[in-house]
Amino acid sequence: MEKRSQWGTRAGFILAAMGSAIGLGNIWRFPAVAYENGGGAFFIPYLFALLTAGIPLLVMEFTIGHKYRGSAPLSFFRMNKKTEWLGWWAVLVSFVISTYYAVIIAWAISYSYFAFNLSWGQDTEAFLFSDYLNLSVDPGQTGSLVPGVFFPLILVWLITLGVLFKGVKKGIEAANKIFIPTLVVLFLIIVLRAITLPGAAEGLQTFFAPNFDTIMNGSVWVAAYGQIFFSLSIAFAIMITYSSYLPKKSDITNNAFITGFGNSSFELLAGIGVFGALGFMAQQNGVGVEEVVSGGVGLAFVVFPQIINEMPALNGLFGFLFFFSLVLAGLSSLISISETYVAGIKEKLGLSRTAAVGLGGGLAALISILFSTQGGLFFLDAADYFINQFGVAFVGLVEVVIVAWFLRKLTDLQNHANGISDMRLGSWWKISLGIITPIILGYMMFDLFRQNLM
Ligand code: PHE
Ligand code: NA
Repeated sequence: MEKRSQWGTRAGFILAAMGSAIGLGNIWRFPAVAYENGGGAFFIPYLFALLTAGIPLLVMEFTIGHKYRGSAPLSFFRMNKKTEWLGWWAVLVSFVISTYYAVIIAWAISYSYFAFNLSWGQDTEAFLFSDYLNLSVDPGQTGSLVPGVFFPLILVWLITLGVLFKGVKKGIEAANKIFIPTLVVLFLIIVLRAITLPGAAEGLQTFFAPNFDTIMNGSVWVAAYGQIFFSLSIAFAIMITYSSYLPKKSDITNNAFITGFGNSSFELLAGIGVFGALGFMAQQNGVGVEEVVSGGVGLAFVVFPQIINEMPALNGLFGFLFFFSLVLAGLSSLISISETYVAGIKEKLGLSRTAAVGLGGGLAALISILFSTQGGLFFLDAADYFINQFGVAFVGLVEVVIVAWFLRKLTDLQNHANGISDMRLGSWWKISLGIITPIILGYMMFDLFRQNLM
C-alpha cells in the first residue's frame, strides 16, 4: 500500500490549519458581525462559542483525522461503516464553496492590480457592477464571459491545483509556509496604517462600544456560533483531512488551541483595522461611523476602494497591500477546501493524486467559470446564501450528535487525544460537545427553519 503523505513539520501543519481558518471570513465577515451583534458585548457569546464549540470541535476533528487516517468520508467510514455519507456531505458543501470562493479571490487579484492607479474611480459601486462585472450591459449578453474575472480565475485555479498536485508536504505545506507569514506581516502594516488615520479612534470606539442589551438575544448567540464555525473551517471536512496527514506522535489538543486562538487573534486584528479605516472614512465624509459600516463584498470591493481613494498618501500601495492580503488569505483557504474532495475521491476511487486533482479540481474550476460570466453574481449569491443557511452549522450539528450520541465515541476520542497530547482533555470537552453544542446548534437550526419556512 502507498504510504500516507505526511506533514514535514509541526509548524507546517499548524500553518496549513491556520491558513484554512484565516480567510475572507476573518477580514470581511467578523468585523460586521461583531458590530451588528453588540460590539464589545459580542465578545461574551463569541468567546463562549470558541471555548465550548470551536476549539472542542477542532480537537474532535483533529482526533478523528489522526486516529482514522483518512479523508473525511474514509475516516467516518472507519469510525462506523454507516456514517461515510456524513463525510461526503461535508465534502459536497466544501466543493460548492470552492466554486465561488475562487471567484472572490479572482476579483481580489484584479483589484490588487486596479489599486496601483486607483482605476476604480470615484463611483466605486458603479465601477464594481458595471465596469468590472459588466452587469449593466445588455441582459441578452447574460452568460458571456467577463474577461476581467475569467483570466484571474484561471490563475487562481492554476495556483490551487498546482499546489495540490505537488502534494501535502511539497505543495500545501510549502505554500502555507510562505503565504501565512507574509499575510500576517502585510496585514499588520495595513492595520497600523488604518489606526493612525484621522478618525480611526471614533471607528474603534464604535466597534468596541458594548451593547449589553443584545446579550440575551438568541440571534446574537446564533451569530457567534455561525461565525466560529465558518471562521475555523469546522464541519467542512477540512480539518479531518489535514489532520489525517499528521505523524503518529502529534500534540493534537495543543495544536487545536493554537489554531483556534491564532484565528481569533487575526479576526480581532481585522476588526481593529477595518473599523479604524471606517472611522477615517466617516470623518472624511462628515457622517457617523454607523453610516458607513458594511461587510462582505460591499465592504471589500465598494467601501475599501473609497477609503483607499481618500487616503492622504501612498494610496496605491495601501490598496495593493489590502487586496493582496485578501488573495493570500483566500488562496490558503481555497487550497484547504479543495483538498477535501481531492483526498475524498482519491481514496474512494483509488486514483493517483494527479488524477484526483485533475478530476475534482477540474470539475470545480469548470463550474466556477459559470460565476465569471455576466449574471454569474446571481448564482454566486444564491450558492452563498444556501451554504451559509443550511450547510455548515447543520453538518456540524449532525456531526456532533452522531459522534457523541449515536456512536458514543467521545470517550474513545478523548483517550486517543490524551494518549498523545501534553494537554489533557477533561470533562469540559465532553460536556461541550455532548450537551452544550448540540443544544445551541439545535436551537440555531430550529430558528433557521422557522424563519425560512414559516
Ligand atoms: N475559514 C475561512 C474563512 O474564515 C472560510 C472557509 C470556509 C475556508 C470553508 C474554507 C472552507 O474565511
Ligand atoms: Na476564519
